[in-house]
Amino acid sequence: MRTVKTLGLLGTGVIGGGWAARALHAGVDVIAADTNPAMEEWIREAVQNARGPLDDLTEGLPLPERGKLHFTLDAMEMAQASDLIQENVPEDLAIKRSALAPIAEATGPDVIIATSTSGFMPSEIQEGLKHPERFLVGHPFNPVYLCPLVEIVGGKETSDEAKAAAKEFYLSIGMHALMVKREVPGHISDRLQEAMWREILHALNDGIATTGELDESIVYGPGLRWSIMGMNQIYMIAGGKGGARHFMEQFGPALEWPWTHLKAPELTEEIIDRFVDGTAEQADGKSVRELEAIRDECMVAVQKVLAKHDMGSGTALNAFGERLKAQAAE
Ligand SMILES: NC(=O)c1ccc[n+]([C@@H]2O[C@H](COP(=O)([O-])OP(=O)(O)OC[C@H]3O[C@@H](n4cnc5c(N)ncnc54)[C@H](O)[C@@H]3O)[C@@H](O)[C@H]2O)c1
Repeated sequence: MRTVKTLGLLGTGVIGGGWAARALHAGVDVIAADTNPAMEEWIREAVQNARGPLDDLTEGLPLPERGKLHFTLDAMEMAQASDLIQENVPEDLAIKRSALAPIAEATGPDVIIATSTSGFMPSEIQEGLKHPERFLVGHPFNPVYLCPLVEIVGGKETSDEAKAAAKEFYLSIGMHALMVKREVPGHISDRLQEAMWREILHALNDGIATTGELDESIVYGPGLRWSIMGMNQIYMIAGGKGGARHFMEQFGPALEWPWTHLKAPELTEEIIDRFVDGTAEQADGKSVRELEAIRDECMVAVQKVLAKHDMGSGTALNAFGERLKAQAAE
């Protein structure tokens, strides 16, 4: 597999822009292709907006020279210039398949093609592609330039070599690669997020809580803990001296109680209005750009504190720093 000097992006929306910002900061050139000419201005602005938070996050690290960004409307130009291609077109199987087929035709088996898909299994997209063994899911999280997690998922035909090479690339741009053992729709993290999202929509639908109250129930309590240790380790600690076994004995039976709705509610205009109006009220007049800047500053601060203790996402920041120092010393 090729060493990645140039990252190709197919689709330059929210996620494509985030990949570009992260890769350029880590010294990788980016060639970004989109069918919409207006996306050139968009991606350049997205990369610019991400610079401040990325500089803060990696303050003091011996970063290589910044990569260069090139935008094109010609997907073939992108395919021919890329060492690894990350696809970020809309979450629609037909669109992904038709966009990827010519890219796979035009590239050799040593060019990994990864999809950012949030929900499709790699085997669903891989079938019929040329050199399917180099195709896999590399699922990131928004904002890609600050969230280190990427879920790597292979399909029926993906080779171990491709998975290992993709992991090496993602680590080289400061990410944490979670190797997902078995493909399932929604991979791992989105299944967890969706379970909670369903409960949120039911609570909105049933008039139990507003979007603001639901968010309070996360940020002042469990959300604060999740970024440090996740859910399982936190529950083990909550078991006190008796640890995980005591926790299971005490709270396990509650899982049988009918707290949870397994199916999502029907998305009526009423729930959509409650969601839109509630989140607008929470924003308190701030624009999406202003909220993004606040989110980014907080994410940088949280990761820096976690890095001091080598905990949670701070471990990815520390590992990135070690890598850069080792490279600078070579
Ligand atoms: N938004 C998120 O939070 C998030 C998180 C993780 C993964 N993802 C996944 O990333 C992918 C992209 O999501 P997004 O939110 O960036 O979407 P988006 O709508 O912001 O961007 C999609 C871009 O693809 C372009 N496009 C459409 N057809 C194309 C084609 N044939 N060739 C080239 N470009 C084309 C569009 O012009 C647009 O710029 C989806 O698969 C989604 O599931 C999204």
